[in-house]
Amino acid sequence: MDWNEDLGKLALERMQKRASCRSFSPQDIPEDILRTILETGTHAASGGNLQPYSILVVKDKEKRAKLAELNMDQEFMAQAPVNLVFLLDWYKNGRLAKIQKAPYTAYESYMHFIIGVEDVMCAAQTIETAAWLMGIGSVYIGTSNYAGRQLTQLLELPEHTYPVVILSLGYPKRELKVREKLPYEMTVFDESYPTLSDEEIESAFLKKHGTLDRELSKVPAVREETLSTLRQALLTTYSPEETEATLNEIREKNKYGEYHYRFGLHYHAAEMLEIGSDVLEQMKEQKLLPFQNKGQK
Ligand SMILES: Cc1cc2nc3c(=O)[nH]c(=O)nc-3n(C[C@H](O)[C@H](O)[C@H](O)COP(=O)(O)O)c2cc1C
Repeated sequence: MDWNEDLGKLALERMQKRASCRSFSPQDIPEDILRTILETGTHAASGGNLQPYSILVVKDKEKRAKLAELNMDQEFMAQAPVNLVFLLDWYKNGRLAKIQKAPYTAYESYMHFIIGVEDVMCAAQTIETAAWLMGIGSVYIGTSNYAGRQLTQLLELPEHTYPVVILSLGYPKRELKVREKLPYEMTVFDESYPTLSDEEIESAFLKKHGTLDRELSKVPAVREETLSTLRQALLTTYSPEETEATLNEIREKNKYGEYHYRFGLHYHAAEMLEIGSDVLEQMKEQKLLPFQNKGQK
């Protein structure tokens, strides 16, 4: 196919400047541009070309505010002129299967679930990239999964659908700051997975984060709160003795590791398991049962 490589290089250069946008100008996205971006997304690859997804375009001001509230008060969602709610959608395919009296277990099959989520992300990422190439910023919102039940009500979702991710879109209010990523050598491997030493792992993550330690607060109450939250998280993975030894080490050094923060305070190891169970329950209410994976008569 005829293609101008220079145009491609320009696009790639722009894509390497991509960053999540959480501050939007009030400028609306022109209807024709939004439509072209969304149409571009529907050209994304899809397993078996089944396209088990739908995209709800939310522009209504009150609804955007409600979306923000339901997604842990992420205020910028209300500020973004457009929110795209990406549904894993095994409803539409199921309707046609019923019309044709065809067999249908996609909503309770793990394989259809995982490929369906991959399909959603192929479409979402195509839209994210298309928007960015048109000067529009965006940020993914994963908390929609926690709010499945309320979003189902707000957006009148049918069974066999689930809001797996949201993309808030709009023109950036200010220049975006590109975040540091893991070094190329720690992300792209030739031919097979290499043996990685602890030093290589640490040095790669140090490069990404700038530091691998965080200081404990000097305020005694905050300090104790941090240690107590960490204890609860550590106990998911280590014995009580190992947990106390690690906490003592943190106390002595007055520092905890970046990954104590990531998996002990931010994505809390125990809470993530609890939330996950709740999300599975909410999916069940939507008659999506990927881990059941057995036929129902
Ligand atoms: C599946 C997914 C869910 C995300 N959920 C949120 C979210 O709920 N809130 C938020 O502010 N950012 C969210 N993000 C954005 C990430 O925080 C962001 O991509 C990451 O910090 C890297 O920064 P960058 O996108 O600027 O490179 C999400 C990203 C992905 C891919």
